[in-house]
Amino acid sequence: MGNNLLKGKKGIIFGALDERSIAWQVAERAKEEGAEFTLTNAPVAMRLGAINELAEKRGSEITPADATSNDDLGALFDKSQEVLGGKLDFVLHSIGMSPNVRKKKHYTGLNHEWYHKTMDVSAMSLHRVLQTAMEKDAINDWGSVLALTYIAAQRVFPDYNDMADAKSLLESIARSFGYHYGKKKKVRINTISQSPTPTTAGTGVKGFDDFINFADSMSPLGNASAAQCADYCITMFSDLTQMVTMQNLYHDGGFSNTGVSQEVVEGFNK
Ligand SMILES: NC(=O)c1ccc[n+]([C@@H]2O[C@H](COP(=O)([O-])OP(=O)(O)OC[C@H]3O[C@@H](n4cnc5c(N)ncnc54)[C@H](O)[C@@H]3O)[C@@H](O)[C@H]2O)c1
Repeated sequence: MGNNLLKGKKGIIFGALDERSIAWQVAERAKEEGAEFTLTNAPVAMRLGAINELAEKRGSEITPADATSNDDLGALFDKSQEVLGGKLDFVLHSIGMSPNVRKKKHYTGLNHEWYHKTMDVSAMSLHRVLQTAMEKDAINDWGSVLALTYIAAQRVFPDYNDMADAKSLLESIARSFGYHYGKKKKVRINTISQSPTPTTAGTGVKGFDDFINFADSMSPLGNASAAQCADYCITMFSDLTQMVTMQNLYHDGGFSNTGVSQEVVEGFNK
């Protein structure tokens, strides 16, 4: 049941691959709250994922766009404004991919061409999206842009590999662009640092199953689900959070502020 928190708002949602995707859950909740939006993903995801099913169910238009292509992003923003009949109020950047993680390269033996790719897809793409939106003046005053991130940007999680570096850059772009877009158009830009979540991107990280259990027992509230993350995204797109910008917001059941939990310590007594 929705509360019309996004009634009359228009947006673009990047990154819904299948039902497990955080972006998919955000799309479902945004619709319930009265938003209209377009969906987008990399051209290859049109074949691999189930985004067509979501678009049909939610009555949304899909425009494929590689988030590393300024031309694709320009066409996406034009098309979205045309389809939705005006400027946008929110954008969700829910994009991540590392060829080094996929091909199991160790952090100390990275392929540097792939490292560039990780940075471009997973971090610089946020800058490209924001620059395109600003050049086209495509976002209304007080609009809200969110990108999803992970705490490996602040602390070492060895198997997160070069994605940790990409997340650090992503969070920095949110702060830096957030300053300029805030000054110019009152557009707010934040990152949400989500618990480990069983999605295609999440489960690609080595040792994910053990790791998700560890995070769960370290978090006083347990791990946050994709659906709960979607709820948080909705509040950040709504007018209830207008003065929040340039922040990295932890959505992790308290993991980020916990040094150690009783359960984890007890595990060493066995
Ligand atoms: N799953 C987790 O444990 C977790 C935790 C914290 C943050 N995150 C972040 O959440 C975001 C969404 O990931 P998810 O967990 O929902 O997994 P997911 O695999 O469902 O989503 C990742 C998306 O990125 C898209 N993508 C990859 N390359 C692209 C490109 N060149 N252009 C456009 N799109 C491209 C994929 O097609 C996919 O839809 C990512 O930024 C991820 O790093 C995930």
